[in-house]
Amino acid sequence: MNIKLLNSNIADINADILVEFLTSQELASHVDVRVLQQAGFKAEQDSICFLHEKGILFSGIDSKHSDDIRSATVSAIKALKASSYMSARLSVINNETLSALIEGFVLGGYEFNTYKSQPKEIHLKDIFFASNALDFKVIENTFHDAMIVAKATCFTRDIVNTAPQEMHPQSMVELAKQLAKDNKLGCEILQEKELEEEKMGAMLAVGRASIHGSALIHLSYKPANPKKIISLVGKGLTYDSGGLSLKPATSMVTMKMDKAGACGVLGMIKAASELKLDVEVHAFIGAVENMIGGNAYKPDDVLVSRSGTTIEVRNTDAEGRLVLADVLTYAQDTLKADYLFDFATLTGACMVALGQYTTGVMGHSSKLKHDFSKAGSKSGELISSLPFNRHLKKLLKSEIADISNTASKPYGGAITAGLFLEKFIHEDMKNRWLHFDIAGSAYTENAWDCNVYGGTGAGVRLMSNYLKNI
Ligand code: BES
Ligand code: ZN
Ligand code: ZN
Repeated sequence: MNIKLLNSNIADINADILVEFLTSQELASHVDVRVLQQAGFKAEQDSICFLHEKGILFSGIDSKHSDDIRSATVSAIKALKASSYMSARLSVINNETLSALIEGFVLGGYEFNTYKSQPKEIHLKDIFFASNALDFKVIENTFHDAMIVAKATCFTRDIVNTAPQEMHPQSMVELAKQLAKDNKLGCEILQEKELEEEKMGAMLAVGRASIHGSALIHLSYKPANPKKIISLVGKGLTYDSGGLSLKPATSMVTMKMDKAGACGVLGMIKAASELKLDVEVHAFIGAVENMIGGNAYKPDDVLVSRSGTTIEVRNTDAEGRLVLADVLTYAQDTLKADYLFDFATLTGACMVALGQYTTGVMGHSSKLKHDFSKAGSKSGELISSLPFNRHLKKLLKSEIADISNTASKPYGGAITAGLFLEKFIHEDMKNRWLHFDIAGSAYTENAWDCNVYGGTGAGVRLMSNYLKNI
């Protein structure tokens, strides 16, 4: 599917069908109101109606706000893909809603067909956006940037959706190397031997029972005069069986998505480099598989992390925080960044707290949380803050080590996981770090907004927006 922006009048564009957004108010005074009403179309949000004789597809909206435009576009693209039209045209409403249009088409029209031997045939080939606005250059820039971010989001989705027998830690290494080559990024890989030399005892323990070696991936995008230096850390559990604290069979299904933080971080650095942002971005990924076996790490083990902090393992399914503890430490030891952000499908508790659509954000800096809250509403990703407190912190106390990998009480699990990570943040970085729990928002089995079944690419639009406006 090609999407093109043309500097012309919509009437001058040749295409099989015109897409038109309508509010119920606009419907009332529309030339086609009678026939549309006969068809039962009330211009309700996300409802659609074809007028085939006239070559128009109407898509209902409650308002011209980006969120409404995005989801109405998703309804339109789904209807178009199911039709036999080969090309569509529509007018760019304004610069503010243009990204939402692109997200609707690209992300709402996304399919992952790698494993389908006979994917459904789609006739739709071309979508033409028309604008004859005076500030066409501005529109063109928005279009260009939004396409980069949407494609980076699809890149992230593809990796998340790839089956775990194919996307294991070593194939993630190969994929990162390829991205580095394509986008001219710096690339450093630490294999198990180096991880041992670097004393990454917590991360290594998690991956010990896997047949695939664990790896730390470090990609870097370094423009000439960066305004800021940003470190991104991603949880890359290519599979989370739970380890010896084995997950129940039904909870294990979908756990290929436990690498979504890493995949998101890869999409973010891809977008940053293609947008040519003047921000230096580093991506640190812990690529590990959590499995069972005779050499598996176990509840009761005490691990020595890279920082020297000892960790009592009470549940091998709380593995993400162990991997992140070492990768966060490594990232801070290697690089003096202005800000440090980690992305992880860390806890089921985050979904209990916020629902499956919202990313949980944790950290000490109100300013940073506020900046991301703005980036969230601008980019269309839902994020909400989960507050730390000292009472929850005490629940991580261990009788025999410096800290336990699970809290002693079951409530507030997303926050206690965040507080576990906080233990590994250097003093001078405490106000420069945020943790994003994407356990709910990174993967879905039901289509919602511009997300379809599978990986959503959570974090990519959010971070791209933040980095652009830093
Ligand atoms: N990867 C899971 C968290 C998760 C659960 C992500 C469901 C997406 C959907 C994580 O490693 C995990 O298993 N966490 C445990 C922590 C518990 C043992 C303290 C959890 O959330 O149950
Ligand atoms: Zn787990
Ligand atoms: Zn996990």
